[in-house]
Amino acid sequence: MTTHKSPTYRIAPSILSADFAFLGQELHSVIAAGADWIHFDVMDNHYVPNLSFGPMVCASLKPHAKKADGTPVPIDVHLMVQPVDALAAMFADAGADYISFHPDASGHVHRSVQAIRAKGCKPGLVFNPAEPLDVLDWLIDDIDLILLMSVNPGFGGQSFIDSTLRKVEAVRKRIDTCGKDIRLEVDGGIKADNIRRVADAGADTFVAGSAIFGKPSYQAEVQKMRQALQA
Ligand code: DX5
Ligand code: ZN
Repeated sequence: MTTHKSPTYRIAPSILSADFAFLGQELHSVIAAGADWIHFDVMDNHYVPNLSFGPMVCASLKPHAKKADGTPVPIDVHLMVQPVDALAAMFADAGADYISFHPDASGHVHRSVQAIRAKGCKPGLVFNPAEPLDVLDWLIDDIDLILLMSVNPGFGGQSFIDSTLRKVEAVRKRIDTCGKDIRLEVDGGIKADNIRRVADAGADTFVAGSAIFGKPSYQAEVQKMRQALQA
């Protein structure tokens, strides 16, 4: 088990698993239930076999991404698209706070990171389960988020891939060595019964789609995750 400096955990529900017929209402409900971030899964039917939603949907939701007292809730855009740059710019204009992309989907990864930063957003890099971390050797100082896929991207509701835990430990070491405030987020198959293991490996931010949406009480599901993290 890797220990790290008193993490502030963030739970980031993925609206991919929300009811798209009531997306605004779903956003309000999950924020009222205690969501810290909103995870926004963008799929292009090219980099991944599925198709979800684009920048116009993000722009419509942005004014609603706030708590009852008006505090903004960050929109965490996960781009599963190829190429990256044009859509990243559109999501920046649509109100994204974090924009993460898969390095294998960009011809010029450093340029894509710079472009996201230049738009005023926080750049992140996403790693598929079988993908090495080598680009971090050259880019860790330039990013604010590392997102590790614990399923293969493209669909919600898949099972957590256990080798992700070793990868989380490896990334945690890199972050601690570099000393920068970089969030370490894990995406796919996260539930109340495994979130603690993922946190113990060194993650501080957790995407959860099917574990929250579609359940009778979003608040109860978020609460179960927080309790597991505090235990
Ligand atoms: C998969 C997406 C995930 C997905 C997670 O491509 O990146 O964010 O929505 O869904 P669950 O929590 O159901 O595994
Ligand atoms: Zn995602």
